[in-house]
Order: sequence, then structure tokens, then C-alpha cells
Amino acid sequence: MKIALVTGASSGMGREFAKQISARYSKFDEIWLIARRTERMEEIAAEIKLNSRVISLDLTNPEELQDFKQLLETQQPDIKLLVNCAGYGATGPCEEIDCDTQLGMIDLNCRALTAVTTLCLPYISSNSRIIQVGSAAAFIPQPDFAVYAATKAYVLSYSRALRTELKSRKISVTCVCPGPVNTEFFDVAGTKVKFLKKMVMAEPEDVVEQAIKDAALGNALSIYGKPMKLAYIAGRFLPHKLLMKFF
Ligand SMILES: NC(=O)c1ccc[n+]([C@@H]2O[C@H](COP(=O)([O-])OP(=O)(O)OC[C@H]3O[C@@H](n4cnc5c(N)ncnc54)[C@H](OP(=O)(O)O)[C@@H]3O)[C@@H](O)[C@H]2O)c1
Repeated sequence: MKIALVTGASSGMGREFAKQISARYSKFDEIWLIARRTERMEEIAAEIKLNSRVISLDLTNPEELQDFKQLLETQQPDIKLLVNCAGYGATGPCEEIDCDTQLGMIDLNCRALTAVTTLCLPYISSNSRIIQVGSAAAFIPQPDFAVYAATKAYVLSYSRALRTELKSRKISVTCVCPGPVNTEFFDVAGTKVKFLKKMVMAEPEDVVEQAIKDAALGNALSIYGKPMKLAYIAGRFLPHKLLMKFF
């Protein structure tokens, strides 16, 4: 059974990945949708062409990750495309964000992404793709978004190393690093979108289309839009101490 698997599929970019994968990869037998909000995923499942399996999971719950492991063991799928999209961010000074929220970001953005990838790896065959949704926040440390940016730096570093490890198995890993995207992310982050971010805000349809194209081409990175490409170059060549004043 050839499948695509998308985490964070109940909204935003994950939802868009589900739609676009379904439209583009009709040869897959199923698409597995993972998130906590079952009804949202059922709505998406009803909208898309591919057969969908709605899997309600809190990826930060170790027992529910065990359930996922067991599901893989029972179903033995051939995962042709894995998209790790579940994630959240909280803005504000570290002193003001409560400890659970800060650790929750690490649990979901790093720990759960690593767990899902590791659990899926035995079921990913050659000529398959992994898409890890990172963020442009990975490029430069970000005061008032410190833990979130650090989790995304982890995703970027992990994805690049994993890509090298999996080359011999002909599995490509693409890290998607968007700037601000118009999703529920900012409602969850509990923040008003700043003017600069509004100016460069992208639509999830465009970011996901670019990401799927980049993954199909086997690219290591998918960075949508000129402003974020510039941020990437700046992050590589300019002192972070200076850049942190602007971001
Ligand atoms: N929007 C942006 O500006 C932006 C920019 C760069 C990168 N990103 C990254 O893009 C990814 C998708 O974000 P988005 O913008 O699409 O935001 P979103 O609309 O808020 O989507 C987040 C998704 O993560 C899922 N999720 C949250 N907690 C979960 C948990 N404990 N277990 C399972 N699933 C969970 C949510 O589903 P449930 O609530 O139903 O569980 C939802 O489907 C994230 O990794 C985010 O860090 C976003």
C-alpha cells in the first residue's frame, strides 16, 4: 500500500499539503492525515480525491506515539511521501512565556518530528521523499521568538544531516523554510502580525506548491519568495548580532 502521510493536516499548510498531494499523486493508495482535531481532518478527507485515513493523535503524547508505532507495524505501509508539518510557535520574551508552552514547542517541533521520522523510516522505500517543515526563523536567532527559532534551527540541521544519511537509500529530504504564512499559526502564537511580517506574508497554497516542486526535484531546501531567500543569504554571510536587531 503506497501512501503519503501528513502531520498537522487539520489546518494551514498541512491541510494544503493534503489537498495538493491528493491532486498531484493520484497513484497513492491512501493519504494519512494526522493531527488532534478529528472533525477538521474529516472535512478535508471528504474534499480530496485520494482515500484518506484520519488519524487523531496528539504527537506530544508518548502513549499516542506508541499507538502510531503499532499502526505502522499492523499496516506495513510503503510511505512514498512523509510531510512533517505539525508545529507551533509562541512569541514574547522568554521570561514571560510559561515553561509548559516553551517546552511544548520543543516537544512538538523537535521531539515529535524526530519521532515520526524515525518511526516511519523503516517503511520508507527508495525513491521516496521526506518534507520537513522548518521555518525561515531557523536562519537567525530571534529575540521574542527565541525557543521557536531554536526549534526550527534544529529541524533544519537535522534535515540536512538526515538527507546525507539517506542518500544511499535514494530517499530525499527537503526542509521547507517559509517566512510568515497566512494560517492559524499567528492565532496560536497569540500575537498580532507585525507590519514587516504582513508585508512579506505568503499564502499557504504558494508555499506548499513550491515545497512539493522542490521535493520532487530532490532539493535540500525550499524557500518561498525573494524576501526569505534574501534572509537565508543574510543569515549565512552577515553577523547574527547585527541581524538580530532587525528580525
Ligand atoms: N504560518 C507561518 O507563518 C509559518 C512560518 C514558517 C513555518 N511555519 C511552520 O509550518 C508548520 C505548519 O504551521 P501552519 O502555519 O500551517 O499553522 P497551523 O494552521 O496552526 O497548523 C498547525 C498544525 O499542527 C497541528 N498540531 C498542533 N499541535 C499538535 C499536536 N500536539 N499533535 C498533533 N498535531 C498538532 C495542528 O492540528 P491540531 O490543532 O488539530 O492538532 C495543525 O494542523 C508548523 O511547523 C509551523 O511552525 C509556519
